[in-house]
Amino acid sequence: MRASGGVESASRISVAIFEKRSSASRDGEDPGELADDFAARVVAWQRQHGRNDLPWQRNRDPYAVWVSEIMLQQTQVATVIPYYERFMDRFPDVAALAAASLDEVMRCWSGLGYYSRARNLHRAATVVMSGYDGVFPRDAAALAELPGIGRSTAAAIAALAYGERGAILDGNVKRVLCRYFAIEGDPASSSVERSLWALAERMAPEQDIARYTQGVMDIGATVCTRHRPRCQVCVLARDCVARRTGRVEELPQARKRKPVPERSVAMLLLHHAGQVLLEKRPQTGIWGGLWSLPEAAPEEDIEAVCLRRFGARGIEVAALPGLVHGFTHFRLRIQPWRIVVGSLQIGSGEPGLVWLSLEEARGAALPVPVRKILEVR
Ligand code: ADE
Repeated sequence: MRASGGVESASRISVAIFEKRSSASRDGEDPGELADDFAARVVAWQRQHGRNDLPWQRNRDPYAVWVSEIMLQQTQVATVIPYYERFMDRFPDVAALAAASLDEVMRCWSGLGYYSRARNLHRAATVVMSGYDGVFPRDAAALAELPGIGRSTAAAIAALAYGERGAILDGNVKRVLCRYFAIEGDPASSSVERSLWALAERMAPEQDIARYTQGVMDIGATVCTRHRPRCQVCVLARDCVARRTGRVEELPQARKRKPVPERSVAMLLLHHAGQVLLEKRPQTGIWGGLWSLPEAAPEEDIEAVCLRRFGARGIEVAALPGLVHGFTHFRLRIQPWRIVVGSLQIGSGEPGLVWLSLEEARGAALPVPVRKILEVR
């Protein structure tokens, strides 16, 4: 039996972990019971109210679980579903993914953002084929060696696909734990993160790890939300320290946001003979490996750039509506120019450049703002 009320128990566990002491040593209470109770409630809630009919939950195929977990990094379920379905139609197993060209994988990923995820997925597929005979590694430690799979994602895949016990700590789970234990401090700082990992490890149950793992993620995504959390229906509310002490709005501590720097660029949409010109981006950096539009510095003379780079003459230039695209660390202000070219010296065949009909261009692996520009034309 638990010796005292939930709030006190929860506080004590978090304090104990911060102090690297067991609360059991202080008053004979078993901290394991709090963890068992937490997990049991998450599991029971997940069974009844969690997400149980997502497309990647049809079976426990580790490939499907892996693809979905990578897509779900930084992207919400509703956005992921159509991309996931298309991706699995095109690349139904790890062999198909490894055999595909990177360009094709990027085309399937185009619009989902964070493109290094797709490059790593492709690279990891080739490692699974060459290093593991096409059979997915069976435990979290080996999964974490693959490109693009960090500690939390490895544990999630191992739990969901193999039922292996382990802790996960994505943004949603961090929020649940920060509130439940009223953890102060910046959750991104290494000291708070260490404590959160310790708590996550401690709360992970021996039984029902797959359902528990899905459950904490679901509670974080649908109940213990950043804004307007639904504490009145939360299965953990009874002994959530933030809830009991009126600090749900304050926790987790908001990150101090630095002002987002802004960059500007001109994008050149060249039209010639019913075709438009695309340019491949370098493999590293933003939109690595995607097809984009040739760029110029915002202050450059557009006609001069077209002449210098493509030998384009007899051109008409018109500004298209500007766009702003947000990245994690900066904002990109884009001024697109529509350029109709009379004659050219550079055609297709130039490395990294390709002339395509608008329809073909729209089927390429394009960054979202470039797709929008091609829609306006
Ligand atoms: N976010 C990350 N993994 C998830 C999953 N398996 N289900 C729902 N949201 C998630």
